[in-house]
Amino acid sequence: MDRANRNMLNWIGIVFVLFPLLLIAGMFLRAIQANTLHSAESWFYPMMTLHGIGMASVWWIAAMAVASHVLSRYVEPSQKVSRFVFYGTIIGVVILLVSVFGGRFAAGWYFLYPLPFKSQGAWPQWATLCFLISLTVCGIVWFIWTVDLLRAIAKKYTLSQALGWHFIRGKSEPDVPPAILITTTALIPAVACFLSAVIVLLLYYYETLTGTRNDELLMKNLTFFFGHLIVNLSLYLAVAAIYDSFPKYTGREWHSGKIVATAWNVVLVIVLLAYFHHLYMDFVQPKSLQYIGQIASYISGIPSAVVTVFGAMAIVYRAPVKWSLGFSLLFFGMMGWGIGGIGAVIDSTIAVNSKFHNTLWVPAHFHSYMIEGLVLMALGYFYHYCQEKANIPENLKFHKLIVWLMLVGGYGFLLMFYLSGAKAIPRRFAFYPAELSHGALFSAIGLVFMTAFLIGLLLYIYETGKRWKKARAL
Ligand code: HEM
Repeated sequence: MDRANRNMLNWIGIVFVLFPLLLIAGMFLRAIQANTLHSAESWFYPMMTLHGIGMASVWWIAAMAVASHVLSRYVEPSQKVSRFVFYGTIIGVVILLVSVFGGRFAAGWYFLYPLPFKSQGAWPQWATLCFLISLTVCGIVWFIWTVDLLRAIAKKYTLSQALGWHFIRGKSEPDVPPAILITTTALIPAVACFLSAVIVLLLYYYETLTGTRNDELLMKNLTFFFGHLIVNLSLYLAVAAIYDSFPKYTGREWHSGKIVATAWNVVLVIVLLAYFHHLYMDFVQPKSLQYIGQIASYISGIPSAVVTVFGAMAIVYRAPVKWSLGFSLLFFGMMGWGIGGIGAVIDSTIAVNSKFHNTLWVPAHFHSYMIEGLVLMALGYFYHYCQEKANIPENLKFHKLIVWLMLVGGYGFLLMFYLSGAKAIPRRFAFYPAELSHGALFSAIGLVFMTAFLIGLLLYIYETGKRWKKARAL
C-alpha cells in the first residue's frame, strides 16, 4: 500500500472514530437541555467545550485530508508531512482530553478571554494551560500542513496562475483546474488564521508567566478571526472536492474560467473581513468595522455558493448520474452549505443580530452548514475515495435509506434549533427557566431526530468501512 493511500485511510479512520463520539457528546448536551440526565448536569459545560472544539478540529482535518488528496491529482503534497501532522494531531487530542476529562476545562470552544483565567474554582489553572498547549500543538502541525500544500502548488504554478488571474484577464492557458484555484484561495487565508491563533496563544502564555493583563477587545478580535476562518475555510476546502469529483459522475468537464476565478478571488478577500459580524454586540468595536462586517457577510455568500451551486446544477442537469452514496452526500452537502449560508446571512444583519445574538439561531445556522454541509461533503468524498479503491458492488436502495436518514434526521434536528432561536431560547444554557420551558421540548424532539441521523451515520460507516478495509489490504 503506498504512503498516500495509507495516510488518506488513516485520516478517514480517525474521523470515523472521533465524529460519532463527538456527536454523542452533542446529544448529551441536548439531553440535559431536555431536562433529563440530571445526575450528569455538572458535565454540561466541559462537554460543550469538548464537543465544539473537537468538531471544529475534526472537520478541519477532514477537509484538509480531502483537499490534500484532490491536490495529489495535480501536484505532490509531502506524505511525510501528512504523517507527521497525523501523529501531532493525535498528541493534541490527547492533551485536550486530559484538560476536559481530567481538569473539567469548560470555557467554551472559543475560550473567550479572560474566561479561561476566571474559572472561579470550576476548573484548575493547569486545565487551562493544558487546553492552551493542546491548541498550540494542533495549531503548529496544521500550520505546517497548510504551508506544505501551498509549497506543492507553488512548485508547479506561479501565484497568479494558481489564483487564475490569467482567466480574469481573458486568457485560457494554462488550464488550471478549479481544485487548485479553490484550494489556493482557502489556504492563503489559512496562514493568516493560524498566525492569529499563534498571537492569541502567545498573549495567553505571556499573561500566565507575567500576570500582565491583555486587552479584551484585541483578544476577542484575534480569537474570532481564527474561529470564523477555520470553520469557513474547512468548507471551501471541501467544496474543491465538488468541482473535482462531479465530472467523474456526470461525464462532463468543469473548467475554471473567468467567472469561477473572479468569484473565488473575491472570496479570498471577503473571508478575511466577514468575521466582524461576531462582534456586532461589542459597542467598543469601531462602528466602521461593524458596517464592513455586514457588507462582507452579505457578499461572502454570493461568489462561493451561487457560482458553485449553479455550476453544479448545470453539470448535473440531465446527466446520467448514478446516485450512489458518494455522489448523493456530495450533492446534498453542497446544498446544505447553501441553506446554512442563508441562515447565517440572516443572522449577520445588524438589525436581526440585535435580536438573535446568542440565541439558538446561532448554533442553528452553523450546525446547518456543518452537519448538512461540510460533514456530508467530506463523508461523500471519503466514500468516493474508498469505493474507487475497493470497487465493491453498490446497493443503491440501501444507500438511499442511509441518505434519507441523514437528511431527515439532520434537518429535523436543525429545525428544532431554528425554532428555538426564533422563540428567543438562549444558546449555552444547560437548563431553561420556567418562562423558556418550550426550549426543553424542542431539545427532546431534536434528540429524536438526531437519533435517526446517528443510525444513518452508523450505516454509512458500516458501508464505507467495508471498502476502507479492502482498500487498506490492497
Ligand atoms: C452531528 C451532531 C451534532 C449535535 C447533536 C450537536 C449538538 C450541539 C449542541 C446541543 C450544542 C450546544 C448548543 C447551545 O445550547 O449553545 C452544540 C454546540 C456546538 N456545536 Fe454541535 N452538534 C453536532 C454537530 C456539530 C458539528 C458537525 C459541528 C462542527 C463544527 C459542531 C460544532 C459545535 C460548536 C462549535 C458548538 C458551540 C460550543 C460552544 O458554545 O462552545 N456541532 N452542538
